[in-house]
Amino acid sequence: MGDGCTGAGDGTGARQFPEGFAWGAATSAYQVEGGWTEGGKGRSIWDFFAHTAGKVAGGGNGDMADDQYHRVGEDVRLMADMGLRHYRLSIAWTRVQPTGTGPANPEGVAFYNRVIDALIAEGIEPLVTLYHWDLPLALQVERNGWLGGDAVIDAYVEYARLCFTHFGDRVKRWITFNEPWCVAVLGFGTGEHAPGRSRDPGREPYLAAHHILLAHARAVRLYRRDFKPFQEGSIGITFNSDWREPLPDADPRRYMRNCEAAERTRQFFLAWFADPVYLGDYPELMRVRLGDRLPSFGAGEAALLRGSADFFGLNHYTTTYVSVDDTNSVGWFCDQGSQWSNDPNWAVTDMGWAIVPWGLRKMVGWIQKRYRPPGGIIVTENGCACKEQDAAVAKCDKLRVEYLRGYISELHKAIAEDGVDCRGYFVWSLLDNFEWAFGYTKRFGIHWVNFDTLERVPKESSKWFAKVVATNGVPA
Ligand code: NOJ
Repeated sequence: MGDGCTGAGDGTGARQFPEGFAWGAATSAYQVEGGWTEGGKGRSIWDFFAHTAGKVAGGGNGDMADDQYHRVGEDVRLMADMGLRHYRLSIAWTRVQPTGTGPANPEGVAFYNRVIDALIAEGIEPLVTLYHWDLPLALQVERNGWLGGDAVIDAYVEYARLCFTHFGDRVKRWITFNEPWCVAVLGFGTGEHAPGRSRDPGREPYLAAHHILLAHARAVRLYRRDFKPFQEGSIGITFNSDWREPLPDADPRRYMRNCEAAERTRQFFLAWFADPVYLGDYPELMRVRLGDRLPSFGAGEAALLRGSADFFGLNHYTTTYVSVDDTNSVGWFCDQGSQWSNDPNWAVTDMGWAIVPWGLRKMVGWIQKRYRPPGGIIVTENGCACKEQDAAVAKCDKLRVEYLRGYISELHKAIAEDGVDCRGYFVWSLLDNFEWAFGYTKRFGIHWVNFDTLERVPKESSKWFAKVVATNGVPA
């Protein structure tokens, strides 16, 4: 390729994906929009959290972010230049309802209408996440946020109704929640994310998760009953999960116990959320281990949850080895009775996350086997943070190209050789952006962003990914 940077391949599409496979890029509102007080937008828990000293690396916040609020046209052009046909974005609840309740804010609605229309004008499908972590602050203060039960669930469902009403004529794929695991564990367990609670980490994450699952189920019921019949779209949810691989061991008995430990951590990570959505209840082993710390679903709630997704959204980044550890039998969230380790030969990203492409193949295989999700799996995020201090370095992001090539190739094997029903792949992220507690210190973009001038510069990975899109395959 140009710019003296090689590695993009010739684009012959050696490994072909199924026809109609959706290739896209993803972002979320708080991470890219900025414009934090504009257009009548209210404050979210992330506005508050990031403005609290010591919460975000370098004192960063999303006040400006990538300024996509003022640069929608430019960003849509970047996508069009790559030939992208799908873009995953999120709606900031506080633009649509500044305090989380009440009528829609016309300026917020107008903004997302502009975004959606600009995408559609370029032939790009908007996939919209309703909740990517930015709860209206008023709902945190007045209704106790995700611990607040029906008070917050009712508000979420009304917000969803407004979004379906105003945007559902053009948005045909909805995602109710992004990564409820992160909301529950990082928001209510470790406190690294807003609302920054860690007062009762053995209980609150399970309660917050429970309410999110119920909010999801009720929003899906609403969509299917009142909107889907004439809007003809689909609705799902996005979970995050790393792959947990049992640590090989020469002693077969020990290896078996590592396998059990690995499966236990998978269930505490992913089945915690996906079992209710697909099977109507939490995994049995979570109930056994957590006792009354795990809330229960009533019969009506279980019925509402079971089958409440038209597709399975998966965000996947990394893999770890798991070995059994009897001294850790109580466990911290999903490490129940286990210890994690990495193979020292695995390369790591700038997040310190191991690069293990075959982990994605195993992950989607596990999902396929356990849930056989109707509507298939969509990889709604996968990507790599690299150290890129300036645009010149970023332009030759070979590690990211290799990461994407590896993961996409393994996904191809899962589809072509293992019979996994996967229908889309979204790279995280279209742009470098605000990486939550890491602020602007981690760059995931396939476009480099100068956070002073807000200039966007395509990286090598954007050119490589454009070839994937154009050929519906992995360049040789
Ligand atoms: C998960 C989240 O959905 C996204 O917001 C975050 O930036 C990426 N993964 C990378 O950590």
